[in-house]
Amino acid sequence: MPIFAAFSLAAALSTTAPDTLEQRVAACLACHSVKERGDAYFPRIAGKPAGYLYNQLRNFRDGRRHYPMMTYMVTPLPDAYLREIADYFAAQHPPYPPAAAGSGTNASAAQLARGEALVRQGDAAKKVPACVACHGAALAGVEPAIPGLLGLPSDYINAQFGNWKNQTRRAAAPDCMADIAARLSEADVASVSAWLSQQPPDAAARPAANLPAPLPMSCGSMPPSQGSAK
Ligand code: HEC
Ligand code: HEC
Repeated sequence: MPIFAAFSLAAALSTTAPDTLEQRVAACLACHSVKERGDAYFPRIAGKPAGYLYNQLRNFRDGRRHYPMMTYMVTPLPDAYLREIADYFAAQHPPYPPAAAGSGTNASAAQLARGEALVRQGDAAKKVPACVACHGAALAGVEPAIPGLLGLPSDYINAQFGNWKNQTRRAAAPDCMADIAARLSEADVASVSAWLSQQPPDAAARPAANLPAPLPMSCGSMPPSQGSAK
């Protein structure tokens, strides 16, 4: 085959690679659709604030989060396309499946109580604010860039805290979640992830439009002014 023909075949193949929004998101649903929650690791992305999703897509693309398949999916894509994908998933509200199996199902009553206390009151001695102060009273997230915490597998939540502690997950500085993760013990993390994963999510819940009060710590991805996410 002449070199020119081979080249144009390659060009034709590359233009038939996913390049419409529908094709792109169909590929994502292989891992991020509702039924996959039973898999106990894949995070729900539907209905999270668009600014949060956009930040994460850029974090995978730009090396601030690490998961080979995710990096592969988003690496060739420009910001404007990532923004469109984020907007698409933020507007989806599929029902939640029943709570997934996972490490959280083995938690003791004492662990669940510790988890709930961290979520609702935090731990002043460890300088950990209540999770609800930032993630919203209903834990459904806050626009534009703080995610909801219900409907996530406990193993996924544990892994994220591990990533923050190991500095393999990063957000814009100051990285409040990395600071919080550093202040929590592994037992604290297991308790909080167990409690969160056992709460029945409300499919009608939406991210709150505003924070109830100023952030208790500053987060670079969520300016207190609540302007658009950086
Ligand atoms: C092969 C499975 C797979 C495919 C396909 C996939 N993802 Fe993911 N995605 C994951 C996993 C696993 C994680 C969690 C990685 C981690 O531990 O940080 C993730 C994380 C994410 C996150 C961060 C979620 C959060 O709550 O922080 C977003 C956003 C996301 N994916 C969007 C997408 C989009 C958009 C596509 C399609 C372009 C896609 N994913 C395709 C497996 C996949
Ligand atoms: C000072 C505000 C603040 C507090 C307090 C806070 N968070 Fe967060 N949290 C954030 C922000 C901002 C993000 C988004 C970070 C990013 O863009 O990566 C986040 C992200 C997360 C995520 C990632 C969700 C996902 O889908 O990947 C988890 C899990 C999480 N927080 C759990 C907690 C828990 C548990 C607590 C309480 C112990 C807590 N957070 C307290 C601000 C906060």
